[in-house]
Formats: sequence, structure tokens, C-alpha cells
Amino acid sequence: MIRITLIFLLTIPSIYTDTEATLGQSRIFYEPFNAPPLNTSVWNTGYPWGSYYNHRANTISRQAKVTQEGFLNLTATRERSLILGLSTEYGPIDLDFTSGAVNTNGKFCIKNGYVEISLQVPAAESTWPTVFLVPEDQGAIPMLTIMEVFNSRSQYSYGLKYTNNHGEVKEESFVALNSSTSNVIHRYGLDWGYDLITWYYDDVLVNTITRSDELRQVNNMCLVIGLGVGGKSKDTPINPETYPAIMSIDLLEIWQPNYDGFYQFQNVQTGFLMEIDSASHNWGARVFQWPDNGGDWQKWHVQYAGRGQYRIITAHSRLGLDSEDWGTNDGTNLIQWPYHAGGNQLWRVQPVLGSSPDVVQLINMFTITNSNAGKLVSVPTNDISAGVQLQLWTDQNSDLQKWKMIRV
Ligand SMILES: *[C@@H]1O[C@H](CO)[C@@H](O)[C@H](O)[C@H]1NC(C)=O
Ligand SMILES: *[C@@H]1O[C@H](CO)[C@@H](O)[C@H](O)[C@H]1NC(C)=O
Ligand SMILES: *[C@@H]1O[C@H](CO)[C@@H](O)[C@H](O)[C@H]1NC(C)=O
Repeated sequence: MIRITLIFLLTIPSIYTDTEATLGQSRIFYEPFNAPPLNTSVWNTGYPWGSYYNHRANTISRQAKVTQEGFLNLTATRERSLILGLSTEYGPIDLDFTSGAVNTNGKFCIKNGYVEISLQVPAAESTWPTVFLVPEDQGAIPMLTIMEVFNSRSQYSYGLKYTNNHGEVKEESFVALNSSTSNVIHRYGLDWGYDLITWYYDDVLVNTITRSDELRQVNNMCLVIGLGVGGKSKDTPINPETYPAIMSIDLLEIWQPNYDGFYQFQNVQTGFLMEIDSASHNWGARVFQWPDNGGDWQKWHVQYAGRGQYRIITAHSRLGLDSEDWGTNDGTNLIQWPYHAGGNQLWRVQPVLGSSPDVVQLINMFTITNSNAGKLVSVPTNDISAGVQLQLWTDQNSDLQKWKMIRV
């Protein structure tokens, strides 16, 4: 018991944030680029695969500098670095510029979470500033793009690249219109879990998509920040007067999901565990409460789905905790059903605040809210006996709606 308590204590500091993007997650990384030098225990310079990519600049360490004013400045100059005669998907390129890029490959890579970066891109439309995530120690597929700016500075693009079932590389790219990038510093956020990818701009949701299959190939991801020249911006003529061009990064913060593992859920009032009726494997079997018997049908795989929500999968049948028929009324029954990442199978797992003077209890008690219905997993008040089916009810701050999460 004491060991469990300590683990929870260690993870509390930033559970209690109120913005949607960080709900159910804890901040694990804070990089304000306050003073030189660049922290090399976190950052490498260049790209994970070398000093150049699909644009006209070679990147070197001298062009990626943390400044006295507290920025990471990536500076592109008209300085020929290398002549390679390279060709990429954007045409033949010549490394006639020099610029900066940094990455965290092999030093700081994460699976699932929320990344938020504050930066200002250069006004020069011939530059191609970008921030993206790539797998550790591999190439650039799969890729999650937080932001990239080419040509116009009044919008930016974001998206993902992955390999489809036939082994072909596919790219999905979206445009955030009317989003200035070079006037002042803006905040770009990306959240991903096992099912959803969500983008934010200045703390406002830009887009959210469900891509469970594609996300299966997304594992440990490392950050890359680069200032390219040409590439996707190749159609914009180069105006020599706009160089050197600087991309300034002010702040980077990263959050990770609080839970990823197997748990029992024990009701705070009745002490019974959430389980599947008769260890059934059937679609639609009832979720009810029962004394602890050690069965896998009393264990639940809690995994971050994305956008502050978790999926809760039974260990024995791999079916998902589900509000029957997408019900939203008080009294909607809970069942197990094949998981499809729908809102009736997504849950916010939140610690109960201020309900108990006992610190251990306080930290270890949770409500489980259905995303679609906004209602809580509850033991119905009219029957609290073993074997009663669990239901969704409006939050009444009742102990019948509070659960201890026991890591198994
Ligand atoms: C560099 O980063 C590491 C890892 O985040 C951190 O522990 C260390 O304090 C940082 N160093 C400085 C000088 O900020
Ligand atoms: C972009 O901004 C302009 C001017 O504020 C407005 O007229 C236009 O409708 C906006 N477009 C979009 C797609 O939001
Ligand atoms: C870093 O960039 C900022 C703004 O983009 C600029 O004001 C500042 O002069 C740059 N610092 C250096 C040392 O280049």
C-alpha cells in the first residue's frame, strides 16, 4: 500500500490543470530556452538523420543558438554549404543556404502526450519553418507534423505521414487558415494517444481526427525543429534582402498521460470491483460490481485515447467499457462492446478533489466520466448490492460515483 501511495504522490503536481489539452496528463518537460548554451543533454543539432533534408539549406550547429534574450534562434543565411546535386520530392536541390535545426533523437522521445511550442517564424516566404515528430532512431515515417509554414505566413499546415497496409507512404495534410505565424509568437499544440490526434493554435482547438490504425505504428517519437529554405516554399522567389531569416522558439512544454496499464476499479462506498458479468466474452455483457475474486474480468486496461480521454478495455475479453446504445440519460446501462473509439467508449479519468481530509484517499479516488454523455460511472442509488449493473448518472458528488484505481 505504501508503495502505491508514493507513486501517486510523485505524479500529482500537474494533474490539476484546467485546459482541455492537458487534461488527464502531467507535465514532464519544460524548456524555456532561458540562457545559452543549448542544453545538449536534451538536444542534438541538425536532423536525426544528418544535416540536410528536403530543402536548400544545410544545417550547422552555429545557426542554432540559445540567445541572451531567452530564445532558441534558428537562423538561415545565404551561405553555400555543400554542393551535392540532390533531388527530393520537391525537385532538384542545391545546398546553397545554411540554417539551423535541432532534434531530441536518442535523448528525449515520448509515446503519447501533448506537445506545445511557442514560436515566431520569419517573414521571408522562401523559408520553410517546421516542427514535427519522428520515430526514435529511424527515418521520417511515421511523422506527426505540429506545424509547417511555406509561402504565405498567414496560414500553416499540419498533418501526418504513415505507411498503409500495402506498404505505401501516405500523407494527410491540413491547412489552418487565417492563422498568422510571423507577426508575433504563437502557440502550436499537438496531442496524440492510441486513437486521436488533435491540433491546437493559441490554445484553441484546430482539428481532431481519429486514426487508430495509423497510430498503431506511432511509438516513441522525438521532436525536430527546423528552418528550411525552399522545399515546399520553392515557388516563392528568394529575396536576398530577407536574409538572414530567423525562427525564434520561446518555450517548449510536454505532457504525458497519467495512466497506461492495468487497473482494478473499486467503488469507494461499496468496496466492490467493476467487473464483467460471469466473465462473459459476449458483446453487450453487463458491467456490474462484485467482490474481488482476482479474475481478469475485474481488470481493465486503461490507455490514453487522446484529447484528454482514456479507453478502458477489459483484460479478459478485450472489449471496451461502453454506454449502451450511446445512451446519455441518467440510468444508462454500462456494457462491454467491441472497441471503436466512439465517444460512448471514451472516458475522462479525474482525481476527486477536496472530498476527503485523508491525503492518500484524496489522491487515490477518481471519477470516470463518459465523454459523450458527460455523466459518471455510478452504482445506482436504489440498489447497491453485489451484482447490480453499473450505470451513468449525473455527478452528485456521491461516493457511489467514486472509484479507487488499483494498479495490477
Ligand atoms: C538540461 O536538461 C536536463 C534534462 O531535462 C536537465 O536535468 C538539466 O537541468 C538541464 N540543464 C540546464 C543547464 O538547464
Ligand atoms: C479570414 O479572415 C478574413 C478577414 O478577417 C475573413 O473575411 C475571412 O472570412 C476569414 N476566413 C476564414 C476561412 O476564416
Ligand atoms: C533572436 O530572434 C529574435 C526575434 O526573432 C530577435 O529579436 C533577436 O535579435 C535574435 N537574437 C539573436 C542573437 O540573433
